[in-house]
Amino acid sequence: MSVKKIEEIFIGSNNKGKLKEIADLLPKSLKIYSNLDFKIPSPIETGTTFKQNSLLKAKYFSKKTNKICMSDDSGIEIDILDKAPGVFSADWSGKKRNFNLAIKKVYREISKKDKNWKKKKLNARFICVLTIFWPNGKYISKIGKIEGRISNLKKGKNGFGYDPIFIPKGKRLTFGEMEPREKYKLDHRSNAFKKIKKFF
Ligand code: IMP
Repeated sequence: MSVKKIEEIFIGSNNKGKLKEIADLLPKSLKIYSNLDFKIPSPIETGTTFKQNSLLKAKYFSKKTNKICMSDDSGIEIDILDKAPGVFSADWSGKKRNFNLAIKKVYREISKKDKNWKKKKLNARFICVLTIFWPNGKYISKIGKIEGRISNLKKGKNGFGYDPIFIPKGKRLTFGEMEPREKYKLDHRSNAFKKIKKFF
């Protein structure tokens, strides 16, 4: 079945790192609106899953703008921390969204679980749920994942959030050390995007 292609979209996020990475995935011919133009405050994320929060944001921003809207809810799950920070990944960076603090907290919490963790391989994954919400109430949500491990040193200045401590499976560099195009070949957001690409 053919789908009606989207010609303009509002990206519902107040996270500049995410905004850039979502915009990079979208076709250049698409008219993109974002909070750089509209300045709409983010809704409170009351969901307990990535899917619930992704839908909640896409619906909220679509209602506010009356436009087709795409939102992302994402985060990192660290197995030794029982999958924390998970949906609370942004919260661990505090009100000022300081990811140096969030990364320190990750290392602190891991050390509480296992003092010798630096000698071990700590499995983790990034998860992203992308939702497109249309003003008529229709929506689609798709999940993407990337497996990897936690680096015992913070490395690299590229990307955002937890990128400097995540090494994707089969690689040696953190996402923070990779060029954006290398990250996009593998990452959770691109994996989710592949599943909704047909709408663009
Ligand atoms: P939220 O989806 O707005 O609740 O925030 C998700 C949080 O997860 C972000 O603020 C980042 O800390 C983290 N995160 C999600 N995707 C990535 C990524 O690609 N790299 C690094 N951190 C990410």
